Amino acid sequence: RTKARVTAIPGDGIGPEVMRATRQVLDAAGARLEWEEALAGAEAFRRGIASGAPRETLDSIERNGVALKGPLETPVGYGETSANVALRKTFEMYGNIRPVRELPGIRTPFSGRGIDFVVVRENVEDLYAGIEYMQTPGVALGLKLITEPGCERIVGLAAALAAAEGRRKVTVATKANIMKLTEGMLKRVGERVLMEHPALQHEHMIVDNCAHQMVIRPEQFDVVVMTNMNGDILSDLAAGLVGGLGVAPSANLGDRVAMFEAVHGSAPQIAGKGLANPTALLLSSLMMLRHIGDFATARRVEHALYVTLEEGRELTGDIAREGPGASTGAFVDRVIANLGRESALV
Ligand code: IPM
Ligand code: MN
Repeated sequence: RTKARVTAIPGDGIGPEVMRATRQVLDAAGARLEWEEALAGAEAFRRGIASGAPRETLDSIERNGVALKGPLETPVGYGETSANVALRKTFEMYGNIRPVRELPGIRTPFSGRGIDFVVVRENVEDLYAGIEYMQTPGVALGLKLITEPGCERIVGLAAALAAAEGRRKVTVATKANIMKLTEGMLKRVGERVLMEHPALQHEHMIVDNCAHQMVIRPEQFDVVVMTNMNGDILSDLAAGLVGGLGVAPSANLGDRVAMFEAVHGSAPQIAGKGLANPTALLLSSLMMLRHIGDFATARRVEHALYVTLEEGRELTGDIAREGPGASTGAFVDRVIANLGRESALV
């Protein structure tokens, strides 16, 4: 089999460390990948590139169609946009897939309940359209942009994902009771589109109740589809149920391009210290391997990771069961040493 070319964007803060760690594991597992490294984030902003992603990076993603991305700093100053959001928009990656699954050895107040669902977040519309202005001094307006085709494709993606993963239920979560036209659009389109998938159960839930339900009875969810902003907030909440952002993977999907990334940020406080936990990017890279059809390597690495989390040796400080925790490098070595072993929990 020929090698698949992948654009690798190490990113900011702990990004280069978790990217190195992930590549080491995939290479050791024999993934047939050719990495093309590309720049985005803080350094690009420093060079005066307003989008945070230079032309060569965009070209690389366009050519390869697949990217693995570390966290990018989001400037909070005026006038600069988030490089993350810019990349999603440039390639119209309208679907953000965020699996929420209990992991072995990662104990939380919710452990043992079999949490296993997927947040499908619309990724380019809504308040993220970035249309904001000062109406008059002291009065700021932001536009909540929702389109019918945008709703159709995100619900369609949720249904396709449910079918592909053998899931049974799709929950459409909206604030349609208040925002009748915008959130209401997703509710109405959701009902219509999901009617065409009789093998799937579907339901609508008001999004604040959905947040409550996720904490009270998270095991009830299977696939949850939401507008961009609601999905941003509830996917963080959902990650918190199963161990936090250090272990939360994601995929950004468009029609031509797919970009895989950890949900966490660049964690500048611990950058460069070898403390970062690469699990989130590693799990994201497994979504990537499956996307390009390399199920065997994905499975092999997933088993090794699960065995490592289960046995509890050489875990980084954020997930260590005792002591100060191991370095990123020691954790990676342990995962690599466990390649070939099988976990009953995969
Ligand atoms: C995420 C992040 C991004 C978002 C930021 C970094 C722009 O929080 O991927 O969820 O708001 O979408
Ligand atoms: Mn977020």
